[in-house]
Amino acid sequence: MEDNTSRGMRLTLLIWRQPAPDVRGKMVEYTVDAISPEMSFLEMLDVLNEQLILSGEDPVAFDSDCREGICGMCGLVINGRPHGPNRFTAVCQLHMRFFNDGDTITIEPWRARAFPIVKDLTVDRSAFDRIIAAGGYISSNVGAAPEANSLPVPKQDADAAMDSATCIGCGACVATCKNASASLFVGAKINQLAHLPQGHPERARRAVRMVAQMDAEGFGSCSNEGECEAVCPKGINLLNIATLRREYTRGVRMGFKP
Ligand code: SF4
Ligand code: FES
Repeated sequence: MEDNTSRGMRLTLLIWRQPAPDVRGKMVEYTVDAISPEMSFLEMLDVLNEQLILSGEDPVAFDSDCREGICGMCGLVINGRPHGPNRFTAVCQLHMRFFNDGDTITIEPWRARAFPIVKDLTVDRSAFDRIIAAGGYISSNVGAAPEANSLPVPKQDADAAMDSATCIGCGACVATCKNASASLFVGAKINQLAHLPQGHPERARRAVRMVAQMDAEGFGSCSNEGECEAVCPKGINLLNIATLRREYTRGVRMGFKP
């Protein structure tokens, strides 16, 4: 008797296809067969693309790099949820065992005015780079790495800075927010640097400049819905947005301007 499980899953994919930024896009249906539950979601898309190339069609453009949940390049809205169904999981670490044979899966790009579509599922996230360039750094020369105990940092501050530093800049927080706010991303960067001694001298100016750049890029305001925290693959929490607001208010009161 034929063993159906050894043939893998058959899936229907509804994928956003858009050949160029200024061309109208649409959802296109594809079928893939023999998908192993052990494949990652991106490997499943690789299978589809091999199929499309062999039939002379344009492969689906999507971003990825490390495929280890580190770089922040991957980003797909799967069945309406950025990075797919699993919490704390970037889409490159999502596996097909979380889907069933016969499923229909919708796959769309991040949708936000500040993240314009480049092609198909790829979007331009350089707005995040410009926010970092506006203030998400330490400009003083801190020299070589000091001896570990010469600059004591309280354990709770080191932990808070490290937790925020795990933000990979993927943009899922923006993609899920009805305001397309980048507050969780910006808050993570501000909170990380505000907790470290090297970040203190510029903390007020940093917050004012980064928030001004966030506004200039077209991201919306935060209205405390919390969707960003719910989809963040790195578990960045809303306390980072509270820090952002505190640091920004402090900067404005001190008279800093963008
Ligand atoms: S806060 Fe989370 S969702 Fe937003 S960019 Fe950072 S890692 Fe991605
Ligand atoms: S490809 Fe690097 S985090 Fe997903």
